[in-house]
Amino acid sequence: MKRQCDTMKENVDETESQGKTTPLSCRGIELAERKNFLGVYKAMCYNNPFHATKNIKGIVNMGTAVNRVMEEELAERLTNSDALRFDQRYQHYFNPSGVLELRQAVADTLTRQLAPDNPVSPDNLVIMNGATSCLDALAYALCDPGDVLLTPTPVYARIFSDFEERCQVDVMPIVCKAVPDNAGESFQLCKEAVEDKIVEALSAKRRVRAFILVNPNNPLGDVYPPSLILDIMKICAKYEMHFICDEIYSLSVFDEDANFHSVLSFKDVPDPERTHFIWAMSKDFALAGFRTGVIHTRSSSVKKCLDAVAVYQSTPALIQHASATLLSDKAWCDDLYLKINRQRLRERYTRCLAKLKGAGINVRKAKAGLFIWFNLGPYLRSRTKEDEMDLFRELLERGVYMVPGTQFYCEEPGWFRAIFAVSEVELEEGLKRILQVVEERKQKGQVPSRAA
Ligand SMILES: Cc1ncc(COP(=O)(O)O)c(C=O)c1O
Repeated sequence: MKRQCDTMKENVDETESQGKTTPLSCRGIELAERKNFLGVYKAMCYNNPFHATKNIKGIVNMGTAVNRVMEEELAERLTNSDALRFDQRYQHYFNPSGVLELRQAVADTLTRQLAPDNPVSPDNLVIMNGATSCLDALAYALCDPGDVLLTPTPVYARIFSDFEERCQVDVMPIVCKAVPDNAGESFQLCKEAVEDKIVEALSAKRRVRAFILVNPNNPLGDVYPPSLILDIMKICAKYEMHFICDEIYSLSVFDEDANFHSVLSFKDVPDPERTHFIWAMSKDFALAGFRTGVIHTRSSSVKKCLDAVAVYQSTPALIQHASATLLSDKAWCDDLYLKINRQRLRERYTRCLAKLKGAGINVRKAKAGLFIWFNLGPYLRSRTKEDEMDLFRELLERGVYMVPGTQFYCEEPGWFRAIFAVSEVELEEGLKRILQVVEERKQKGQVPSRAA
């Protein structure tokens, strides 16, 4: 397969042979030309945000995965004098892989919350500025350009960008179909599909280096059964592939029967040296602006490489201190924040589910995260990506932004992801606007009669 960068290089060589110079490298050109769907619409929402009294015509942002249900509690705790307080030691250089105070606080929190029988060591942690940086750093440490990373789709779209953009890893989807399986479940992942995809890529002479699972899944809100995770880890071990688990939503499991098992809690991991975990403060603690993410690895060589990369993408010391202060306050963190956060997410999700289902929309059951995934396919003029974008634009014009499913590499057009972790008033208004558009499409008869 000819890589896009090779084509760029030929174009650059041709331009330069004509005596002109190009301002960017081949990589730079490729990056500058990449489409950034989320970036474009996020900016649009930030420039015209809905406000119940000051800007009722503004856009209700149900597209950006931000958790706003605990804003008051967070602000109150952070403005306590122990958290965001300047001290001269934050002024100077520090361990770029993360200060011990934060690595210890993260290790203790992850142990308490995710792996009480399998304590996490701060020595196995590297702190970086957000999960995005962690994904990019793992791509750098584990893969060479042109190597293959596999991931089940639909998935958080930046899994693709974070491996492709700088490290030029080829991300290949393992497509989970919208069609329900024998048990009536849609978008199901099975171990056979993982192995089939590995064999397919190997037969095409590709170097398959890693598999990444987002658990709980974004955008589905799914929690994967521990038996499936173990099976996939065994498959990865068989093919000497890295198994990465992005658990950025692991403390936002709001369904009490979800049976969520973090990869950190597995005692007998088939290949511990090739098993890596990612988490961040961005979602569970609603602190995306803090740019505090973490990688856990038991491999000393991977750790050494990550330590070297960390210097480019470390989190400021003052922010590390503030993050550590929150996490170390066990009473606030476990008994107040995380508990109430889960309750509020559950309430918001239940309300959203009832409203959408009440309007006859097919909604997929979620167990975790900030989002709800539902099918507006019956309200498209035809089941194409273009018509999905057409509905997306209509919704945006009517003042509500949600991300359409094909942006998450969903094969079947028509699915949408809405963030319900917005304020009460935004949730009401956003749902009202979505349902109005759906109702109008029904009334105008723009949709096939079998729409339901
Ligand atoms: C699954 C997943 N991983 C990583 C990220 C990126 O997180 P961060 O803001 O910490 O870079 C997100 C953000 O939406 C996400 O949903």
